[in-house]
Amino acid sequence: MTSTNDLSAFLIQTHSLPPNSLRRLSTFSPLGRRRSGDDFPKSNFSAAYTSSSSTERQHIRSEEKAWAHWRKLKQPKLIVAPMYDASELPFRMLCRKYGAEAAYTPMLHSRIFAESTKYRSKEFTTCKEDRPLFVQFCGNDPEILLEAAYRVESYCDYVDINLGCPQRIARTGNYGAFLMDNLPLIKSLVTKLATNLTTPVSCKIRLFPSLHDTINYVKLLEDSGCSLIAVHGRTRDERTKERANWDAIKSVKSSVKIPVLANGNIRHMDDVDKCLEVTGADGVMSAEALLDNPALFGGFRSGDWVAEGDDWFEDGGVDRGRLMVEYLKLCEKYPVKWGIIVSHVYGMLGKWFDVHPDVRDDFNKEKELSFEYIYRMVDRLRARGVQFPLYVKKIRS
Ligand SMILES: Cc1cc2nc3c(=O)[nH]c(=O)nc-3n(C[C@H](O)[C@H](O)[C@H](O)COP(=O)(O)O)c2cc1C
Repeated sequence: MTSTNDLSAFLIQTHSLPPNSLRRLSTFSPLGRRRSGDDFPKSNFSAAYTSSSSTERQHIRSEEKAWAHWRKLKQPKLIVAPMYDASELPFRMLCRKYGAEAAYTPMLHSRIFAESTKYRSKEFTTCKEDRPLFVQFCGNDPEILLEAAYRVESYCDYVDINLGCPQRIARTGNYGAFLMDNLPLIKSLVTKLATNLTTPVSCKIRLFPSLHDTINYVKLLEDSGCSLIAVHGRTRDERTKERANWDAIKSVKSSVKIPVLANGNIRHMDDVDKCLEVTGADGVMSAEALLDNPALFGGFRSGDWVAEGDDWFEDGGVDRGRLMVEYLKLCEKYPVKWGIIVSHVYGMLGKWFDVHPDVRDDFNKEKELSFEYIYRMVDRLRARGVQFPLYVKKIRS
């Protein structure tokens, strides 16, 4: 499980290039500024130029670029949220197979990424089918963030800045949601990337306790050159057991002119439809619910969201065992750390383990984990007879 000969998965080895050649490469990148500029409808431009000041013109230009890029990506609506040690390549590919239209990498640490070849090759893998892709970094130094971003920009569709992590490690490292206390620094991070990269910059944010502050915040991001904002509808101090504030996301959407993604409380496709309707957002992102059910965006829902006797739903023919096996096959193709695989085993098979705790105990005790062991474990769970199907809505004539 440590190496692969499969050329369809490639480690990002830009470390072999000196920083200057990275800059030169990015200047001539196929996602270059000139080309996206050419995508703008000329008529919009002339209207804008006759009626606006130069700063306004610049803003209209950035909005148009943001939308041209979004349209080029076919306006993905169903997106895998960034998850540290969990939204890695095999998991992204599994979610894509079941309906996800775009995905984020887990958060990468910009300084370590810029400095360490080992970190880069271990923590960031992708393949040509892994698009559209957001690569997320945390950081608080514009130069270092840019150095890290240069190394990935030609492999992704957005370079994302994590402005939402509320954990202690982010407080200690002064990144994520703790940068909300220093808006000038946030502005300099976004401006640095937006003016130097050829790939657009996105930001994943949390809400301020006051809506007024949140609106000023997102306008600052937009004015700094951010091309897309993903809003986790909770404040820095709120945890996931509290409901995400979709009304605040709606206010964000109506305050900026660039694409906005809504995040929080997406557990099945009815939530997706409702969230898009309430917020007016351009897409939704889901995290925790995908760990339990990576087929969520394909219209499959876990039994937790189907009431007993509800005859609007039927067995969708896909169960957690099948998803697990498909995930493992992807891990054989695109190797990842065993710790990540183990977390996904608990995520996907956790409910089965609850019914058969002896199988979980054996898994916990196993010293020499292998793919074979987990394949056999799925067979063993199946042989016990208790099924955990995923449900789909019945087609009614
Ligand atoms: C296991 C896990 C890891 C996460 N890691 C990250 C991360 O690396 N970067 C980030 O911006 N958010 C991270 N988040 C937050 C999610 O992206 C998302 O904003 C949050 O879970 C709310 O969405 P949900 O209600 O769909 O779970 C993580 C969440 C989970 C559950």
